[in-house]
Amino acid sequence: MKDIFDFGKKIDDYAVMGNPISHSKSPSIHTLFAEQTQQSVLYTAIHVDLGGFKQAVGNFVASGGKGLNITVPFKQEAWELVSSRSERAERAGAVNTIKIENDQLFGDNTDGVGLVNDLTINHGIELKNKNILLMGAGGAARGVLVPLLKQNPSSLFIVNRTPDRAKDLALDFFDVGNVQGGGYDAIAELKFDIVINATAASLQGELPPLPDTLLNDNASCYDMMYAAKPTPFMLWATEHNAVKVLDGLGMLVEQAAESFYIWRNIKPETKNVIEKLRAELNT
Ligand code: ATR
Repeated sequence: MKDIFDFGKKIDDYAVMGNPISHSKSPSIHTLFAEQTQQSVLYTAIHVDLGGFKQAVGNFVASGGKGLNITVPFKQEAWELVSSRSERAERAGAVNTIKIENDQLFGDNTDGVGLVNDLTINHGIELKNKNILLMGAGGAARGVLVPLLKQNPSSLFIVNRTPDRAKDLALDFFDVGNVQGGGYDAIAELKFDIVINATAASLQGELPPLPDTLLNDNASCYDMMYAAKPTPFMLWATEHNAVKVLDGLGMLVEQAAESFYIWRNIKPETKNVIEKLRAELNT
C-alpha cells in the first residue's frame, strides 16, 4: 500500500474510472472540493481497458484506495461488483460512486440527486406538482428516475424513439410515482412544465422530434449534456420561449459534491466550482 503524507496527515486516494477518461473533469472538481474543505484527498483519473474493470477495482482496493467514481461504460458492471447498494443505486441499475471500507464496496448513484439539486437549488425550479417530460429511456434516464419522482411531480412522462423501452422503464418505477412512457407521437397533444433531455441525441448533434406546442408558459428545459455551445435541444427550447434553458454542467458538479459527501461526510460548496468550469469551457 502506498502511503502519501501531507504535512504529517495521510492523503486518501480516490479516482474516477472510465473509458475514455482523459477528458474527465472529475479530478479538477474533486481537487477544488478538497482544497475548499481542507480534506487530504488525492483524486486521479484511471483509464480502464474494456474487460479489465473488476481487476482495476481490485488493484485500487488493494492499494488502499478509499473511493471511486465510475463512468461510461462501467456503471452497470460496478452495480454488479459492489457488495451493497443504496436504494437509489439499486433502482438505477447503475453505480457511479463506490465507497471502500474494510475492503467492502458500497455502491451509490448520485446522478439523480445531482440533477435534482441543480434544478431545485441552483436554478430555483420547483418539481413538486409539475408535469415533467423525460426524453430517453437508456441508462442516463433510468439513473435519475427515483430522485425525480421523489420530488412529487404531478406526472412524469418518459418519451423515447423506441416506445417500448419507455413503457418498460415506466413500469419499473410505477411504485415510486405517477410515471408513464411512450413514443413521440404520444406527446403530440401534451404540455409540460419541465423537459429534460436524457437521450444521446445531443452527442450526435441531433434533436428528438418535439411538437411545437410542447411547452407550458414558464417552462424550463434541461439538457443533461453540456458543451461550450448550446445543444440542438437548448436551441429548440430558446426558440420555443422556455424561460430557463440549462445544460448539464451543474449536474456534473452536483453529482460530484454528493459523492464527496458520501466519502468525506462534508458537503462542498458548488457555486464557485460550477462558475470556474463554465469559464474554462468558454475559453
Ligand atoms: P445512455 O446510457 O447514455 O442513456 P443508451 O442506453 O444507449 O445510453 O440510451 C440512449 C438513449 O438516447 C435512448 O433512449 C435512445 O433512444 P432509443 O432507445 O430509441 O435508441 C436515445 N437516442 C439516441 N439518439 C437519439 C436521437 N438521435 N433521437 C432521439 N433519441 C435518441
